[in-house]
Amino acid sequence: MTNDALWQRRKNALSPTYAHFYDEPLNVVKGDGVWLYDETGSKYLDCYNNVVSVGHCNPTVVKALCDQASTLNTHTRYIHENVVVLAEKLAAKFPEKLDTCIFVCTGTEANDLALQMARCVSGNKGVIVTDAAYHGNSTVIGAMDQRRKNFGQFDWLETFEPPNTYRGPHAGKDEGEMASLYASEVDKAIAKLAGKGISLAAAMLDLSFDSNGILIPPGDYANLVADKVRAAGGLVICDEVQAGYCRLGEYWWGFERYGVMPDIVTIGKPMGAGHPVAAIVTTREIARKFSEIDRYFNTFGGNPVSAAVAAAVIDEIDDRKLLENATDVGTYLQAGLEKLAGKYSFIGNIQGAGLFWGLDLVSDPVSKTPMSDRELRHITTLLKDEGVLMGYTGRYNNCLKIRPPLIFSKENADQALSAMDRVFRTLG
Ligand SMILES: Cc1ncc(COP(=O)(O)O)c(C=O)c1O
Repeated sequence: MTNDALWQRRKNALSPTYAHFYDEPLNVVKGDGVWLYDETGSKYLDCYNNVVSVGHCNPTVVKALCDQASTLNTHTRYIHENVVVLAEKLAAKFPEKLDTCIFVCTGTEANDLALQMARCVSGNKGVIVTDAAYHGNSTVIGAMDQRRKNFGQFDWLETFEPPNTYRGPHAGKDEGEMASLYASEVDKAIAKLAGKGISLAAAMLDLSFDSNGILIPPGDYANLVADKVRAAGGLVICDEVQAGYCRLGEYWWGFERYGVMPDIVTIGKPMGAGHPVAAIVTTREIARKFSEIDRYFNTFGGNPVSAAVAAAVIDEIDDRKLLENATDVGTYLQAGLEKLAGKYSFIGNIQGAGLFWGLDLVSDPVSKTPMSDRELRHITTLLKDEGVLMGYTGRYNNCLKIRPPLIFSKENADQALSAMDRVFRTLG
């Protein structure tokens, strides 16, 4: 069957809500480590997929899955060692206070549950998030991305300006000043809630600011925000679905990078290397308070197969020293990106850390006019034709997104950088 025929069948059988990255559909039939293969056997360097952080079809993870799937799969209403082992392994990766887990299947579910808990514990209902942040797709969590009009407006939600040091109202000032000016945007959002008679239950923070183009906030911004949230009676929920699992290098979690202590952490995506598993990690006290008010059961969350997979992922990251790799290769990649920025003035800014980078691409470096969505699609298509897969993100959809599996090597980085160089050269 041709790709066109499959594309047509997909269109007929699936909802039009499904998007595709490229005008000419890519038919991926096999994955191995950092590589994806299409139906003709052509191979692509995967610089996009963070979910398979330990590599596509990682043999250790696949074995853990197959062994447990062929032995038993049930739920958490019986005791099983796997889920306990996973909870213990996870807790060991967090500060001592964050010692209690609840398992779910997706990042959206984790965030929804985190919000339920924050509301129960605080007794309030207001929520603040950065503008254009993405935290999931349910009615409540999806509504937090106010660009998505079909979710409507909720009185309990306010957004605040993301801490963009390159573009945005406080960009370009001194680091400390930017930190306090951007943090004061949170005061405005809390005041707007108060104006409606609503008190703050939580701030949900993705400290990688992925959908804002992958931002590194200035100075002590993250702690200033956390202090303001707590002073207003709210809980700090760190959505580590993107920032967690060593993505930003140096630390397992994004919040650690900024010395912030969250009340609740949500994790997902890379946790199962492609298998749907996600979780909440919080304090015993918060979990206890929530359990006094409400119960929570998730049919698939914490099942022995998912738990075996998630435990194998943690072991792989440790055994193969992938945190160190993300730091080391990330630094190497950054140096290469900086060289490209010196060569091409349409690279307005390089933002990110570890193995998570956004290139803010501009059509005019002086006015910082963002390149269009269409131009980014063109660039990622040219990169695909060079055998390299990347994506794009950001408030204006103009940030080229580089987010490869954690097993990415310096050799892989060289290949990605030279493909970018060749593609950028064609853009003038
Ligand atoms: C920061 C963040 N949080 C939550 C989610 C939702 O996760 P899921 O798609 O597993 O529901 C995403 C997904 O892209 C995300 O990027």
